[in-house]
Amino acid sequence: MARSAIAIALPPAEFGAVSEQIAEAGFEPIEIRTAGDLEALLHERRDIGLAIVDSENDFDATLEMYALLHDEDRDIPALIVVAAQAFDQMSGFGGKASVKDEYVTRPYSAESLRWRVEAMLIRAEMPVGETESGIIMSEPPTEPSEAEGPRGQIVIVFNPKGGVGKTTIAVNAAAMLQIRKGQRVLLVDCDTVTGHIASSLGMEHVRTVADAWTEDLDTGADETFASIATQHLNGVSVLVMAESPLHTEILEPKKVAEAITAACRVYDWVIVDMHPDYGLLNQGIFERADKILVPVTPDVPAIRAAVQFREVAVELQIRDRLAMVVNRANSGVSVADMERVVGMPSLTEIRSAGMLFVQAANEGRSAVERFPKEKVIGDIEKLCSRMMDTRDSGAAKSGQGFLGIFSGGRNTNPTGRAT
Ligand SMILES: Nc1ncnc2c1ncn2[C@@H]1O[C@H](COP(=O)(O)OP(=O)(O)OP(=O)(O)O)[C@@H](O)[C@H]1O
Ligand SMILES: [Mg+2]
Repeated sequence: MARSAIAIALPPAEFGAVSEQIAEAGFEPIEIRTAGDLEALLHERRDIGLAIVDSENDFDATLEMYALLHDEDRDIPALIVVAAQAFDQMSGFGGKASVKDEYVTRPYSAESLRWRVEAMLIRAEMPVGETESGIIMSEPPTEPSEAEGPRGQIVIVFNPKGGVGKTTIAVNAAAMLQIRKGQRVLLVDCDTVTGHIASSLGMEHVRTVADAWTEDLDTGADETFASIATQHLNGVSVLVMAESPLHTEILEPKKVAEAITAACRVYDWVIVDMHPDYGLLNQGIFERADKILVPVTPDVPAIRAAVQFREVAVELQIRDRLAMVVNRANSGVSVADMERVVGMPSLTEIRSAGMLFVQAANEGRSAVERFPKEKVIGDIEKLCSRMMDTRDSGAAKSGQGFLGIFSGGRNTNPTGRAT
């Protein structure tokens, strides 16, 4: 992504820290004080990618700046800083609200502003339609032909034990790949029983695959996952299979598996969070996976469940695609011991992060956006880098999977650790 310049209209006390973060992210921060400054800047420069404006101190000036950003010739996204108490009272902005704009409430941290800017700029490059309660409805991505290049990777996050971090890892890996790695990501909530990806991302009542395919019966349409998905503010396309565990007969396993495979021609990554069971829907998807991440917490029930899954995977002939992600890894248990017992290489470890994931979910965001500097987000970044490394080396497609990468070949010690 080309790094653009960011116009910043903030009080001097805040400008310093924010401009430092913006510069660190590789953007050029440009201070503006008045609407006149902004007008001159927009005349002079064509590379202003975004403006950060303060609506708290001089509301009229902000309105003027806002109009300049969204006149007939341009539509530059604005990140508008407001007081928390003013936020509730705002409905639109001078009647010209743009779907690309966002609000941030004081107090905010300069780092969080930086990641918002990154996410907004990524999103600004994507086609958008209407907005509703903070959700951006994406235009259906076009389906490229086979000839357009390699297809994306299907990554399943699975462990038959509940509460080991499947959803947490799926949501945050998706956000990391999309926001910091510049990848196009479809995050699929395939847990039709207890799935809560959409609600943990603050997206209530999204259109589900069950809704869409039921409507298709009447209309004769045949909607793809890319067209049914709803885009989160962080840019990730989110797809929920069904809102209720009842009436899911429409989700015919083979059709779902095929739709996931088709989505790989539109997205770089399709990350699938699953309900912990071995039903036909899950089996159909396992078969299509390039990689299966198995989160394991260092406790006996989770380790036992992972061992069981490894055995099932041998029967399903997908064992080579499995890799353990040791979650809540800083509890004193040796990762090497876990690898030996579970019989899977550990792709990476994710430390325990207290209430941080819960807090981010309560705010409807991933922890990658909400706590970008935390060490645990560094762990998520490492996980994603390793996923990208295995993709780029082509191991998954050559059938070697994770074991090929981390232990030098199919028949060598399957517990060989990632380096
Ligand atoms: N590394 C971590 N540090 C702190 N909390 C974590 C960590 N990983 C997961 N959690 C928390 O543990 C709880 C269970 O995690 P999560 O919902 O991701 O598990 P799951 O495997 O998807 O469960 P289920 O099988 O019920 O869907 C959540 O509250 C989550 O925030
Ligand atoms: Mg879950």
